[in-house]
Amino acid sequence: MFLGIDIGTGGTRALLVDARGTVRAGCTAPHEEMRMERPMWAEQRPENWWDACVEAVRGVLASAGASGGDVKAIGLSGQMHGLVMLDGEGAVIRPSLIWCDQRSQPQVDAINQKLGKEKVLEFIANPVLTGFTLPKLLWVRDHEPGAFERMRKMLLPKDYIRYRLTGEFASEVSDASGTAVFDVVNRRWSHGMMDSLGLDRATLPAVYESSEVSGRISAQAAALTGLAAGTPVVGGGGDQAASAVGNGIVAPGIVSCTLGTSGVVFAHMEQVAYDAPGRVHTFCHAVTGKWHVMGVTQGAGLSLQWLRNQLMPGVGYDAMTEEAARAPAGSQGLYWLPYLMGERTPHLDAGARGGWIGLTAKHTRADLIRSVIEGVSYSQKDCLDIIEELGIRVASVRASGGGARSPFWRQVLADVFGKSVVTLETQEGSAYGAALLAMVGAGAYASVPEVCQAAIREVDSAGARPEEARIYARGHGVYRSLYPALRPIYPAM
Ligand code: XUL
Repeated sequence: MFLGIDIGTGGTRALLVDARGTVRAGCTAPHEEMRMERPMWAEQRPENWWDACVEAVRGVLASAGASGGDVKAIGLSGQMHGLVMLDGEGAVIRPSLIWCDQRSQPQVDAINQKLGKEKVLEFIANPVLTGFTLPKLLWVRDHEPGAFERMRKMLLPKDYIRYRLTGEFASEVSDASGTAVFDVVNRRWSHGMMDSLGLDRATLPAVYESSEVSGRISAQAAALTGLAAGTPVVGGGGDQAASAVGNGIVAPGIVSCTLGTSGVVFAHMEQVAYDAPGRVHTFCHAVTGKWHVMGVTQGAGLSLQWLRNQLMPGVGYDAMTEEAARAPAGSQGLYWLPYLMGERTPHLDAGARGGWIGLTAKHTRADLIRSVIEGVSYSQKDCLDIIEELGIRVASVRASGGGARSPFWRQVLADVFGKSVVTLETQEGSAYGAALLAMVGAGAYASVPEVCQAAIREVDSAGARPEEARIYARGHGVYRSLYPALRPIYPAM
């Protein structure tokens, strides 16, 4: 059997998969809530991820009735872009500024001023964004110089877990791509970027391809988790690249839409291509020698979670989508802007704010819920449109993540996208992709596309309905006009 471990935002999931790709058992251990000391700030404790990882691994072994010796190899996946700072003893210096933390706009501006946007693009094939790791590090340098001085290694979230499992400081190309110090074209750290900013190259971990073995389970980790010492751990992937592997997005033509806390539209690329303004990210894929492009909605599942927590506590997501289905398509002219944590694609604006526009006394709670689902779907359509503008052909979209478990939301996506939305037999996304990468690393399959071919099967498809597609095509036009109208007002908020 093979083990995939995904360090998500809400929790850590461990998944045992057999050599044919069948899921044998899964176990999720929740994380502490992210700490939001101020609006747009978001932190988590890496030690909490580790505790959740130990719990999830022990839990999955127990529920499969397996022992550590049954696990042939392990793959890791995790929330991207988070900054984990370790001191010379390997201890965590401060909580991690995670992917959706938006405090670092001044640092982004300073980088652009110092290097120029063209040089940045030449170094890393992307603009630097507040979501990425580098400006978070510079924020710590500017505001907590003592913590910055003590740092000897900087790691990404899943790579901290790798360190706890194996003792190795290592990353892999897909997650490293989201740090803003990685040369995406040449698949290695950007010494140019590090040197230009006076940063110490020695703080960077070793970097592997996603299916390469990066280390082995240590005796200490074995004692805590129940895994066997010496079990290989492959590079793995950032959660989006790993999820793409789990969804079989490893060749041109099929695109995925993953609705987790964030929402991501993801396409495979044989060659590097980028959107000049950088509205979508161009990163290395978890397929050796390939790339991907992805557009990110910051507050996808987060929008629905916020609505539930603040206005409908205790109501389940199934009940919410059932209620939403009772409102008409278009939510009677009500629009939701999902910019709860600023927005990446297409606005690249950490200061964007969310909200409803178009409320009238006639609107019902069903309209509120439906409009949130529609607004997130419009935002994902913005991502898809840019990907198609890059010349990437999109035949159909494979949906995954918590949001895509709802048949109602999948149908809205199909209607908004005007394309078929397909579901797969295994909807485990990132943890599943991580396990598939482990299979390749262990030599059970020769390549990532080969394991995907063997393991991944489509089971259901929703086509776009003409009447709803017409309503949403018009609605998307209105939605797109809202951000430009509000942008001048956001700074005053
Ligand atoms: C991708 C991104 C999010 C996080 C959390 O760029 O920031 O998808 O990885 O899932």
